[in-house]
Amino acid sequence: MSPSPRADVAVIGGSGFYSFLPDAVEHVVDTPYGDPSAPVAIGEVAGRSVAFLPRHGRHHDHPPHGIPYRANAWALRSLGVRQVLAPCAVGGLRSTVAPGDLVVPDQLVDRTSRRVGSFVEAGAVHLPFADPYCPAVSAALAGADPGVRLGGTMVVVEGPRFSTRAESRHYAQQGWDLVNMTGAPEAALAREMGQCYAALALVTDMDAGAETGAGVGQDEVFALFRANLERLTGLLTDAVAALPDPGACACGSWWDGVELTYDVPGRG
Ligand code: ADE
Repeated sequence: MSPSPRADVAVIGGSGFYSFLPDAVEHVVDTPYGDPSAPVAIGEVAGRSVAFLPRHGRHHDHPPHGIPYRANAWALRSLGVRQVLAPCAVGGLRSTVAPGDLVVPDQLVDRTSRRVGSFVEAGAVHLPFADPYCPAVSAALAGADPGVRLGGTMVVVEGPRFSTRAESRHYAQQGWDLVNMTGAPEAALAREMGQCYAALALVTDMDAGAETGAGVGQDEVFALFRANLERLTGLLTDAVAALPDPGACACGSWWDGVELTYDVPGRG
């Protein structure tokens, strides 16, 4: 019998980012929450076992509001993953960012409205989430390329439509920097699974309130993401190599003393 597949680290690919590891083996993972977005590809990067999961599926089958977020988080945890790197496409809300910029946000505003955002279905389990991203994984991402900016607030909207100009201006007036459609509930579910999680936001466009043209179109988002794939892949490879062992932060231990009412695979 072949040993069960294992991985320490995961990369969750975004729009236009459907494969990462050249010699990976794909594994179909069953979860109590249904199928993940795609089979999970596992390969080696810098001596570490790395899982790759394209959040929209291999052929962009899942729109942002239809991504099986719980199945994805559970599947990665069941493989042993403790650290998650999450590249994503974002729109820029202010002139402090421009298309092509890479940002590791440190704050998140969840403006989604129709997604199942938690594994908690019973009992008193309240996730600490003041700082939604793991500081150690964020630092590894930011340190992998001098062009990456560390810090910024990303608002996550329900989609799949882009924001109106008024919505977009409102977000900018709040002081938020970036807008995206998939960062929630992904970050919170990773924390519920005791995983370290950080986002790597690639600015693919300026959102409607920050530009005077016709507004955002999906073609520019996909084209910019495609044009930056090589850079992203190199950066993620360097970040994986620089990851410290998990355990220096509280992401995997927030539940000490809490009676969890859901299953976390492999929780000691
Ligand atoms: N993803 C990429 N660009 C976006 C935008 N302008 N709004 C929401 N999500 C996005």
